[in-house]
Formats: sequence, structure tokens, C-alpha cells
Amino acid sequence: MKMILDLDTGIDDGMALAYVLGSEDIELLGVVGTYGNVYTENGVQNVLNILEMCQAPSIPVYEGEKHAIKKSGFLRLEVSARIHGENGVGQVSMKKAQRRKEELSGVDFLISAVKKYKKDLVIAATGPMTNLASAIIKAPEIIEMMGPVVIMGGALTIPGNVTPYAEANISQDPYAAKLLFESGVDVTMVGLDVTQRSVLTKESTGKWRETGSVAGMVFADMVDYYIGEHDSSVGGCFLHDPSAVAAAKNPKWFQMLPMHMTVVTEGEAAGRTIGSQERLREGNPNVKVCIGVDDKAMEKDLDDTLQNLFIRCGKARED
Ligand code: BDR
Ligand code: CA
Repeated sequence: MKMILDLDTGIDDGMALAYVLGSEDIELLGVVGTYGNVYTENGVQNVLNILEMCQAPSIPVYEGEKHAIKKSGFLRLEVSARIHGENGVGQVSMKKAQRRKEELSGVDFLISAVKKYKKDLVIAATGPMTNLASAIIKAPEIIEMMGPVVIMGGALTIPGNVTPYAEANISQDPYAAKLLFESGVDVTMVGLDVTQRSVLTKESTGKWRETGSVAGMVFADMVDYYIGEHDSSVGGCFLHDPSAVAAAKNPKWFQMLPMHMTVVTEGEAAGRTIGSQERLREGNPNVKVCIGVDDKAMEKDLDDTLQNLFIRCGKARED
């Protein structure tokens, strides 16, 4: 499967990236960085650093949009700096990558990749939907060509995590999410309904550390920091962004409900992802909403995949 990731890296975005790198059935064509957990420039740098550390230095990295479509700037939330650390990767210091981002913009990269690979390309977005919406606005002809888009974002059956209504990625740019949902593109929504059901514990990070590779140790420190920011009742950390990769990789782990979804863009409930019964009765589902997950199967695959990736990274360094 050919994939592009659109990330606001971010600790769980970093885990999603590692999950893709370790999955032999996924060919990563490029990564677009966006704002959200971090400023776009920091997210791009984090991706470059992780790729080099994970022995994948040739995957191109593009800079995406820096703020929501209808806003003129972006101010990082204090809560993001707390949950992901000031540097976005849990205050863990990583070797700075030698190479830089590509010249082409993230939005233009998305447009050209869709035109080239069409339905064979899966785009997994785990930050705000601004880059995808901007690509659709700039080149609406790509709508017909686009393959599956899997997003981490939204909540259908449970409350949000930044307001009682809204999940973080959607709340950053509700207009972008609404545009994407209503565009006609094949969208799978992997929201809090499922991402808060899968948990990674310190048992896993302990195994990564034991691989002895730099990548294993850095990721273990990063994710331990993230676990520390969760309520102790969770027993680890939620697997928000890796769940989007898992849904692309193995949809069978997820129970999906075809819905007609839209997004509230104004007022107290801005960012709420909501299903319309009326539109659905017209026989018009536009989003597959994940409402159930085989959490054990997914957690095991993530755990095994990351452990094997870190073992491989250690071996490559020795060779
Ligand atoms: C989402 O918000 C970000 O903090 C995470 O990286 C994830 O994409 C969870 O609501
Ligand atoms: Ca994210």
C-alpha cells in the first residue's frame, strides 16, 4: 500500500510514523508536516529527525500549512506543550537531521501525488485537516481521483477532548474537516470513540528500551513522557494517531458505521463531528466512522512492529 502521512508531530504522530516505517506492507511516499501539537516548522523538523534516527533518511518531508484556513495565524495551546513537551517529542533530545525539507509545499505535494497515484494512494492525516482541504480547494479535480483518506479526528459517541464537543484535530480547523467530509472523498474517521480504547503501556516501552538501539531508547523516553501526561487510570497512553494507520493497514480490526457526517463550524459546539440522520435516509453516507476496535489485535501489532523496527535500526547502525 502506498501512503502519505500528514502529521503534527507530536508524540503519537511520531508513533504513527514509526508504525508505518516498521510495516513492510506500507510504502511511505512522503510526509507532510502541519501545525497543531506543534508549530509546522517544529513538526517538520521532528519528522526529519525521526526518519534519520529510524534509518529512513530518504523519505521526502514537505512543509504544510501553518494555520487554519479561516485564520491568519496559529498560537500553540499550552496543553499541547504540556502533553507533548515544549519540543513536541516529550523533551527528549534527538540528533538534528542533516537534511532539510523539500522545496515543494506540502499542499502541492499532495496534489501531485494524488494525480500520479490516484486510487492507489492512501493518505493518513493525524493533525488538523487543513492541508487536505487546501489541496481540494486549490485543485478540486483531485476529488475524483483520490483514494482512501483515513483521519485521526472527531468523536461521534463520546465527548471531545478539548471541549465537551470537540476533538483536538477537528477543533483546530472545523471548516477544513467539514470541507473534507462533504467533498465526496472516501473518508474513514478514526476518532476518540476508538482511539481511547487502545492503550500502550510501559511494558512496551520497556521492550523498546531493551533493543539497545538509539531509536528504541528515544521512543521509549518519548512515550514514557506521554504516558506520564495521561491520567493514571488509563494505565498507559491512548493510541490516537497509530489507530489511523491501523485502520488503513487492517480495516478488519475496526467496526465502521457508514454515516452522513458534517462538522459544526461556529459557536460553542465548533469542532463537533455530527451525523445527519436526514441525509443518511437519503442514502448518502460520506464517512465511515469507526465505532469499535479489536484493541488487543491492534495493540499487539503496533507493539511487535515498533519493537522489530527498533531492533532493525540497532542492527543497521552496527553494520
Ligand atoms: C489528537 O490530537 C493530538 O494531540 C494528537 O496528536 C492526536 O492527533 C488527539 O485528539
Ligand atoms: Ca496528531
